[in-house]
Amino acid sequence: MQIEFNTEELQEVQKHISKYPEKKAAIMPVLWMAQKKWGWLSLDVMRYVSQLLDLPLSHVEGVASFYTMYFKKPMGKYHVQVCTNVSCMLRKGDEIYKHVAEKLGIKHNECSEDGFYSLEEVECMGACGGAPVVVINEDFYENVDISKVDDLLTSLK
Ligand code: FES
Repeated sequence: MQIEFNTEELQEVQKHISKYPEKKAAIMPVLWMAQKKWGWLSLDVMRYVSQLLDLPLSHVEGVASFYTMYFKKPMGKYHVQVCTNVSCMLRKGDEIYKHVAEKLGIKHNECSEDGFYSLEEVECMGACGGAPVVVINEDFYENVDISKVDDLLTSLK
């Protein structure tokens, strides 16, 4: 697989770089772009980002491994995040997580065999007012219950 952004994407990278006094400060949006394009951050992808931003590979690996939103292995087409932190747990977020894990037959940070779903138990998503919260890819679903989550998962098929 060719690891290279296209012309439009490279222009977007330049836009991110131009927002900061130093090139390296653009690392997070550029890693996010890379993850969206290739699905996860393989060593080759991180190497490409390090070349784009003139950074040591170790720096890129450090950032990618610090933030859980960056995938270091292939994840599902639909990445399901269930918050089990305090506000969500008090409103049954932990039961929702257990239910989803059982239903999908996968555990934290695992991907279904068909590559359709992956699951992550997450800390606070910053949406406590809508607890319990489930996030699928970049869409937030608040005030969910087991039945609503079942409907959501079914709607993805
Ligand atoms: S505790 Fe779940 S969103 Fe804050």
